[in-house]
Amino acid sequence: MADAPRIVRDPATMRAEVIANRTAGRRIGFVPTMGALHAGHCSLVERAAAECDDVVVSVFVNPTQFGPGEDYARYPRSLEADAALVGRLGVRWIHAPLADDIYPPGAATRVVVDGPATPFEGRARPGHFTGVATVVCRLFQAVPADVAYFGAKDWQQTLVVRRMVRDLGLPIEIVVCPTVREPDGLAMSSRNAYLDPDERFRAVALFESLEAATAAWERGAEVAVIERAMRAALVARGVAVDYASIVDSETLGSPVVGREAVALVAGRVGATRLIDNRVLAGRGSSA
Ligand code: PAF
Repeated sequence: MADAPRIVRDPATMRAEVIANRTAGRRIGFVPTMGALHAGHCSLVERAAAECDDVVVSVFVNPTQFGPGEDYARYPRSLEADAALVGRLGVRWIHAPLADDIYPPGAATRVVVDGPATPFEGRARPGHFTGVATVVCRLFQAVPADVAYFGAKDWQQTLVVRRMVRDLGLPIEIVVCPTVREPDGLAMSSRNAYLDPDERFRAVALFESLEAATAAWERGAEVAVIERAMRAALVARGVAVDYASIVDSETLGSPVVGREAVALVAGRVGATRLIDNRVLAGRGSSA
């Protein structure tokens, strides 16, 4: 049986451990999370464990990526259960800093990404991606790993992180792993725990809208027609739609002939906001 992961609170201690092990020739993989770990996170850890000698998981519910009135206070926190879960997968360290370790009192520095951070989630949740970029940058200082793993479920977040890493020349490789789904297609998310049975039933509409979009895209349907159909599928199950769009998978601008696109959906089921996406192979017409 694997040893229990060591829980390291202090970022400087965590950094020293990672540097010592990398200096000794070990390849270190990093999975940043906000905890409440589920099978989606486990798939990231498994990929990291397969590709690296040691794995660090960070567990930090980052206050700066939640807007006023969002679910920061009630976001599930379960460090012991998280440690037990990823301990079974061979994780060596859990980095669980306190808020003051990440944001020292009086902290005045933020990482602001434009471009991919602007539309969709950026518009729906002002300041969200600044919070994400700032904390990820800070976590990359505490965990100077060879490679970090992110889930494709937060498609726009992966673009924002990759852009930040490129623009700031951060010495870390970013790997994006496929979304893990429940048997009925609902994407795994820590926020699924908020759903009551009726909401859980209705939440599958996000997946269904993406299935319909994929089929229509492959048939060559017009983008505007597909977007209307996605929205209709969501509304039919009582989802309050934020957006249902098909865009270029890298730029998030209009789809381009022959380039990969992505269908993005976001909406509220009861009080819970959910997002999902599906990458679509490039096709001959972008209409
Ligand atoms: O995807 C998440 O869980 C968070 O946005 C992240 C990347 C850990 C930053 O807080």
